[in-house]
Amino acid sequence: MASILRGKDILRADQLSADEVALIMDTAARFERVVQNGGRLTNMAGKVLATLFYEPSTRTRLSFETAMLRLGGQVLSVAEARTSSSAAKGETLFDTGKMIESYADVAVIRHPVIGSAAELAAGASIPVINGGDGAGQHPTQALLDLYTILKEKGRVEGLTVTLAGDLKNGRTVHSLSALLAGQGVRFYFVAPPALAMPAEITAGLRQRGIEIEETDDLAEAVAHSDILYMTRVQRERFADPAEYERLKGAYVVDSALLKRARAGLTIMHPLPRVDEIATEVDAYEGAAYFRQAANGVPVRMALIALVTGQE
Ligand code: NCD
Repeated sequence: MASILRGKDILRADQLSADEVALIMDTAARFERVVQNGGRLTNMAGKVLATLFYEPSTRTRLSFETAMLRLGGQVLSVAEARTSSSAAKGETLFDTGKMIESYADVAVIRHPVIGSAAELAAGASIPVINGGDGAGQHPTQALLDLYTILKEKGRVEGLTVTLAGDLKNGRTVHSLSALLAGQGVRFYFVAPPALAMPAEITAGLRQRGIEIEETDDLAEAVAHSDILYMTRVQRERFADPAEYERLKGAYVVDSALLKRARAGLTIMHPLPRVDEIATEVDAYEGAAYFRQAANGVPVRMALIALVTGQE
């Protein structure tokens, strides 16, 4: 039977049903076991992944590319898409989508404009995966975050999760809050007022019955949390550099903060970090952010294989 995700675009976290999320988690775990045991996978043999990155990326692009290679497929990549592709000549993403479908079997796009992945997907008949659209969504990050919580904690249901930092501009927390809302968590949203979670996201979650406490007191939140999901102040989304300078140091996770945290706190971060997690925290056993980055590989392997029907 064909996968329920076959042929689908992955554009937003809230498009995914509980069954689809469970299938992605199970498939990622299966692929991770095979790779860990030194096995070779050939699911994507003869297939091509195109990566179109119009914004900087290290982890997302490299983990998608290695995911495809580990599935036996091949990768076409436009790294500096903004300056080196026909976007610089004014081509629309819709037209790029029309063209890309004859070059590749699946595509990943990262772009500074909200809705850009959807525009590419509207033009392309092949599955399109959103690798981050401006301050919009980053669904594959949310999926690897969920996978990480499952591995670190063994469950999600009943956990208290603090999302902290730039909740206004951070696409990772927009996607992650939507994904976790379906998994029985309660939230603290910790941000300075100028970087608060967009009101429509908070209202939408509350309408679904999700318990959310909004505060600017990080220490208070971590005293009651199982997970701290820290984020970077998104400098590239600020029109006014002085406003960024004012807000960039809003929160720093350090040893002093950890002393006030609930025992067993797991600390996550989508990376890159700037200075919001002190390096002294890296030695703490609950510091999961580098393990989290590694989990991007099996989760993206699962996504590539599922949307192309090669799982
Ligand atoms: C995030 C992003 O690009 O939104 N990075 C990532 O994909 N791991 C987070 C960030 O840039 O702050």
